[in-house]
Amino acid sequence: MSVLVTGGTGYIGSHTCVELLNSGEDIVIIDNLYNSKTEVLERIKKITGKDITFYNADVRDKAALTEIFNKHNIDSVIHFAGLKAVGESVEKPMLYYDNNLISTINLCEVMKEHGCKNLVFSSSATVYGNAEKMPLYEDMPLGAINPYGKTKWFIEEILRDEAKTGNWSVVLLRYFNPIGAHESGLIGEDPNGIPNNLMPYISQVAVGRLKELSVFGNDYPTKDGTGVRDYIHVVDLSKGHVKAVEYAREHTGCEAINLGTGTGTSVLELKDAFEKASGKKIPFKIVGRRAGDPPTVYANADKAKKLLNWQAEYDINKMCEDTWRWQSKNPKGY
Ligand code: NAD
Ligand code: UD1
Repeated sequence: MSVLVTGGTGYIGSHTCVELLNSGEDIVIIDNLYNSKTEVLERIKKITGKDITFYNADVRDKAALTEIFNKHNIDSVIHFAGLKAVGESVEKPMLYYDNNLISTINLCEVMKEHGCKNLVFSSSATVYGNAEKMPLYEDMPLGAINPYGKTKWFIEEILRDEAKTGNWSVVLLRYFNPIGAHESGLIGEDPNGIPNNLMPYISQVAVGRLKELSVFGNDYPTKDGTGVRDYIHVVDLSKGHVKAVEYAREHTGCEAINLGTGTGTSVLELKDAFEKASGKKIPFKIVGRRAGDPPTVYANADKAKKLLNWQAEYDINKMCEDTWRWQSKNPKGY
């Protein structure tokens, strides 16, 4: 029995592959390497000492998926493959709808044809749209403010409808802000070009690739005026996926579950923690707000504890230490 991991050479996928292998699962990866490199496979092998079956293919390619399901005894799928850059999704909405929606529909069809019913999907806190009340609970109304967010929301709706046929076990994992890296420093986040997200930006300033951090606004109604988010260590997040696969095997239906810590950290607090962890000064300037950024976002994480018996263990300091180990050992990425 194997777990198929789509997007398994990506940032969250690679860390999840390590946790799956460490927990004794057999895995098969499919990734078209659009946003990742094969070097990741060598690193996963180095960490776990285990071999991996990898297919360089697109999840939109039904024939390729069918071949994989014919060859391997796949009982569960974790579907990470997708495009995730908010700004790019506004400029190229069709690219996002095509890649994210078609891949998911294809995957479900092929799973169905092969009697595979357990699906764990990478959703996002972005599906809560512009919610104003915090923390976010899973039963709050859904929405989205950009095409990327809409792909996550629409896929959730599609999977909820499909699960009503009674033949599925779907877990929709809504991630908050994943940061950090495996503590070996061998795998981590390696964005293409200039990072859009805060943590990779800070770590590239620390390692000398970027000059200074721009803090997007210090006039928010938060503790120090800067944006507050629920940062979660990618290894904690990955362990949540192992639990979600186990849960899917034992249940039917469809559940949405937040994966967050329930704690908010501001931009300046994260910068300070990173300075402490790295011993490097992070020069910064305050600039205007980024369009669409809410002041504060954090999870209520009780449902994950209740259904999956999972909760985040690592704090912001550990997230910064592990990011720095990865970034300083791999200043140019993979
Ligand atoms: P990532 O870009 O590092 O990984 C995604 C992987 O999917 C990449 O390796 C890419 O090459 C592959 N891929 C994309 N489209 C594909 C296709 N059609 N066929 C085959 N492979 C394809 O991103 P990540 O940060 O690891 O995110 C994984 C998932 O989690 C994504 O679906 C993302 O939207 C979701 N998510 C990420 C975050 C975050 O902050 N990183 C937050 C919420 C949700
Ligand atoms: C962003 C996306 C969200 C996506 C998530 C994970 C937007 C509007 N939102 O979330 O849809 O699910 O990434 O990929 O893009 N900040 C700075 N300077 C920077 C970068 C960020 O001050 O250079 C601030 C932001 O204003 C925010 C915080 O840092 O307050 C975190 O930003 P980021 O890491 O981009 O995550 P989100 O905006 O929460």
